[in-house]
Parts: sequence; structure tokens; C-alpha cells
Amino acid sequence: MKKNIQTTSTHKKLNLFQDAEAASLFVAHQIAELIREKEKQAKPAVLGLATGNTPKGVYQELIRLHRNEGLSFKNVISFNLDEYYPILPDDQQSYTYFMRQYLFKHVDIKPEQTHIPHTDFSEEGIAQYCQDYEDKIQSLGGMDFQLLGIGRNGHIGFNEPGSDFESKTRLVNLDSLTREDAKAAFGSLDKVPEKAISVGVQTISKAKKILLLALGERKSEIMQQAINGEITTEVPASFLQSLSQAEFVLDASAARGLSS
Ligand code: F6R
Repeated sequence: MKKNIQTTSTHKKLNLFQDAEAASLFVAHQIAELIREKEKQAKPAVLGLATGNTPKGVYQELIRLHRNEGLSFKNVISFNLDEYYPILPDDQQSYTYFMRQYLFKHVDIKPEQTHIPHTDFSEEGIAQYCQDYEDKIQSLGGMDFQLLGIGRNGHIGFNEPGSDFESKTRLVNLDSLTREDAKAAFGSLDKVPEKAISVGVQTISKAKKILLLALGERKSEIMQQAINGEITTEVPASFLQSLSQAEFVLDASAARGLSS
């Protein structure tokens, strides 16, 4: 059921950059600053991480900071947003594989401190598995930082249009546009899983700081709706407008459609 939130005081904060590189560096440096700050306090930095094309530049810069500027990931505890269901962790399309390739194998993060939903088992037991994933995040005090991309339908994580703002980690059905966009990675549409495990909109909204990164022309239409449209479950990312700790980070191409 579609739900809208009426609010007169939204907290939209926009960070606009000339190109994808500048936007990615901005995000990477915010993450690095948080990791260093937490290290000084001898506390873990609990990071919510995303996959896909968008964060690749962010991870590249974090790897550079690790190699050249001594940034350590030893005190990082990470939780990924989502994973296709079912998929084997070693499949090249899996997000476990992605995180290994694009970040984890290049830095000193402790494998036991990384969390990505495992989805290589039958549906029986999934509800408990999701509850445990959610509980683990909350037992650490929630995410200190959440990195988000955005789907062309406005999804965040795999919270597809229609996802409740109170949703938590759960098994979801993937939207047809999401599956279409994943077709290239899987080779054909019939190979794209129909389901996924995703943390919920509520799980995301509890993070102490949230940055949604949107890059490229193909995100410009949905960014206009997410930033300037009504806050509605039909565009899950629009919920971020109501959160004072959430910011949008766009390159010039993704910002092209913004009317105000
Ligand atoms: C991935 C995720 C998704 C992606 C979104 C954009 O972990 O949570 O919401 O961020 O589908 O994907 P790209 O960046 O490939 O356009």
C-alpha cells in the first residue's frame, strides 16, 4: 500500500560535484574521517556498505588511503545492505564476491568483522537469519555511517517501491526494473534471481550519518523525484528527505534534472 509522509520541514542537504570522481572522493574522505575519529576513541566504526557501480570510486579512494596514507580498517565493522537470493558467495555476481574484489582483499579489514547476508540456503530459516542480522546491527548501536546508491526506481538497498518505512532486514521480491538492470551482469534475465535479502528502510534510517551517492545521467530523473518529489513509499529514497542526518551527493550529470 502506498504511504506518503506530509511534512513542511524537510532536511534536504545536497552536495553537488562537477564529476563522479570529485563526488566519490568527498564520500570516501567522510568515511576515512569517521574511521580515524573512532580509532582515536578506541571504538569500532560500524559502516553500512553498498555494492554496484556507484561506490566503486569510493572504494578505490579508500584503498589508496590505506596504501598511501596509513588508513587502517582494523577497527571497522561492516554490514552490507543486501544480497541476491539465492546465490553462492563465490558466484561472480554475488555481493560477497564484489566486496572482496573491490574493497576487502585490498585493505586490512578483519574478515570476521565483515557481514554480508548469506543466501545460499533454503527459505526455511530465513526469517530467523534476517532477525539475527538486524539484531547484530542494533547490538552494536546501529550503523555509524550508511553508504547508499539508488536504483532507477528509487530503491535504496533492495527496498523496492512499496517498501514500508518501518521495514527491517527481510527477504524481498526484486522489481522488474531492478532485474532488468542486473541482466548485463548475469548474462540474461532468466538468470537474475527474483529475490534478495535487504536491510530495511527503518534499519537504514537509524544510521547516525547517511550519504546517498548518485552518479551519471541515468540517475537524473529519479534524483529529481527523490529530492524534490513527495515523500512516498513509491520512491523509497524520498524518505531520506525527512532525516536530518541524511545527505545526497550528486555529480553534475545526476543533478541535471533538479528543478529547484
Ligand atoms: C547495492 C544496492 C543498490 C544499488 C543500486 C544502484 O548494494 O543496495 O541499491 O545501490 O541498485 O546500483 P548501481 O550503483 O549499480 O547503479
